[in-house]
Amino acid sequence: MTAEEKMTTTTTQTAEETAARAVDNILTIRKLRTWFFTDLGISRALNGVDLDVPRGKVLGIVGESGCGKSVTSLSILRLVPRPGRIVSGEILLHRRRKAPDGTITEETIDLTKLHPQSPEMRAIRGAEIAMIFQEPMTSLNPCYTIGNQIMEAILLHQDVSKREAWELAGDMLEKVGMPNPRQVLLRYPHELSGGMRQRAMIAMALSCEPSILIADEPTTALDVTTEAQILDLMRDLQADIGMTIIYITHNLGVIAQMCDEVAVMYLGRVVERASVEDLFYNPRHPYTKALLDSIPHVGSRTKRRLASIRGVVPDPYATISGCPFHPRCDAYMPGKCDQLVPAPANVAPNHMVRCYLYSDEGEVENGG
Ligand SMILES: Nc1ncnc2c1ncn2[C@@H]1O[C@H](COP(=O)(O)OP(=O)(O)O)[C@@H](O)[C@H]1O
Ligand SMILES: [Mg+2]
Repeated sequence: MTAEEKMTTTTTQTAEETAARAVDNILTIRKLRTWFFTDLGISRALNGVDLDVPRGKVLGIVGESGCGKSVTSLSILRLVPRPGRIVSGEILLHRRRKAPDGTITEETIDLTKLHPQSPEMRAIRGAEIAMIFQEPMTSLNPCYTIGNQIMEAILLHQDVSKREAWELAGDMLEKVGMPNPRQVLLRYPHELSGGMRQRAMIAMALSCEPSILIADEPTTALDVTTEAQILDLMRDLQADIGMTIIYITHNLGVIAQMCDEVAVMYLGRVVERASVEDLFYNPRHPYTKALLDSIPHVGSRTKRRLASIRGVVPDPYATISGCPFHPRCDAYMPGKCDQLVPAPANVAPNHMVRCYLYSDEGEVENGG
């Protein structure tokens, strides 16, 4: 057995068997710890993240600045910068291939076991999992035309001629609503407006037809009108291609508009996970309730920071025993919330919360 064979498990099942499975996740994250080892000490950016990403859906990740949203996406792509590294946990990618006879083959690969610079990981980035950021200039190269960059992305992952790739690049720009797409192919990034650069970056990410698109606050820097257009566009493309989207934002209005399901993060953990409807109409975690109270009304597209929650996000270098939210929580029960981390409890089908208001069970930490 080669090392690669050991790392992957392949199961073959019929389409019926697959459909019969209760949940179909494309990505499963288990007890993920990503820590930064700095001169100031250890920053436990992710401290036991559990997250299921349903195939073909839009999963939102929401939480205040510094709670670990970006480190989660960088961990999935194996792009965590030094001095950070994945300390423990699993990131399981459930690949699915359909044979001409309808047989569906599933293969699971643990991304934490791959070397960040290995050929497999490079192939996964872009071809299977693509990412768009808040600032398009971090993914666009200022020295090459938009057409060249999208063409290169296509050539990397599709077996087509340069000429065909150029044509496809133009088609993709048209799809993302770029004005004068064929002319934009010849432009350099600095010649485009912020909204157009964002569209170009989305076109580049989508040109590889990834199974998963991670969007990390992609519209935060844009004006409200452009933001609305980009959100509509991503939803349309998602419905078209059946792609899975992980949509990261601190804006609950955007979550309401974009997502099917939501994970609420607090200090390196997922504290609540539910469908969008359940989360907005029946939030359980005191932190989620506080987040919802901090927006004027659901659906408003405010860019206001989530500032009205009592206290501030604690220093990530500090270790807090028990529930990480207890120092700010109105429902704090001394002697309970400050002991062990609350274990995940299912309060309804597909609705998980970590809070002692709903379950007495705590988790014995091994994170150090
Ligand atoms: N390069 C770094 N060096 C040290 N700590 C970092 C670094 N990048 C991120 N972190 C830590 O990870 C935590 C989570 O960061 P991040 O995922 O960027 O938050 P979010 O995207 O939710 O605003 C931060 O509070 C910070 O302490
Ligand atoms: Mg971030």
